[in-house]
Amino acid sequence: MRMRVVDFHTHILPGIDDGSKDLQQSLEMLRAQAGQGIDHVVCTPHFYPSSDNPQRFLARREKAYSQLAAELEKHQGMPALSLGAEVLYFKGISEWDGLKDLKIQGTDCVMIEMPMSEWSERMLDDVAAIKRRQKLTPIIAHVDRYITPLRTYGIPETLADMPVIVQANSSFFLNRFSAPLAFKMLKKGQIQLLGSDCHNMTSRKPDLGQARDIIIKKVGDEAIKNVNELEKNIFSGMILI
Ligand SMILES: [Fe+2]
Repeated sequence: MRMRVVDFHTHILPGIDDGSKDLQQSLEMLRAQAGQGIDHVVCTPHFYPSSDNPQRFLARREKAYSQLAAELEKHQGMPALSLGAEVLYFKGISEWDGLKDLKIQGTDCVMIEMPMSEWSERMLDDVAAIKRRQKLTPIIAHVDRYITPLRTYGIPETLADMPVIVQANSSFFLNRFSAPLAFKMLKKGQIQLLGSDCHNMTSRKPDLGQARDIIIKKVGDEAIKNVNELEKNIFSGMILI
């Protein structure tokens, strides 16, 4: 039986962040996803804790989602949607009550965007404590954004020792300069989930299907099977990390 293919990181909800600007664009993005064999799309709009709060965010997200869901009823063969958020790290996040409201629907996972500045020990302890204090598993968004093909700053190894799941973007595998590192990290289990992080149909488009194809060609089926297995476990509440 074919495994369900999940795009774990997208900005596909209309008009809620710097992703899809309207309903038309969201539909176009979802149509592209369907064409690439994506069955399930996790919507992870940006959540910026310094200028937003969960209540306001959830109301905006619900509005964007219901508009899109109503439109999707008229279309066949589109991916299923789950709601989540890409929560920007802030000091004290592991003790913050609002975090549970931003978890990915149907899971005990929450997507965390780390800062682009250097990660301190205290910050890493705070992220690791999310699991212990809140029983939520952090998914570290787009690990590829914090490293370069020439310098990884020990980040892949650091994250591998933490109670987190590591997600990488399709572009990491599709760009010929970063691809060798992406394949290496995937083989070592330093990347566990994939997402397109699509924002539009031009500069940051849905391209997970292409990334999966190139991974199968260069790394083999096994790597993709591991990703699929974890996706399945996340949605059935069985994560062993
Ligand atoms: Fe993102």
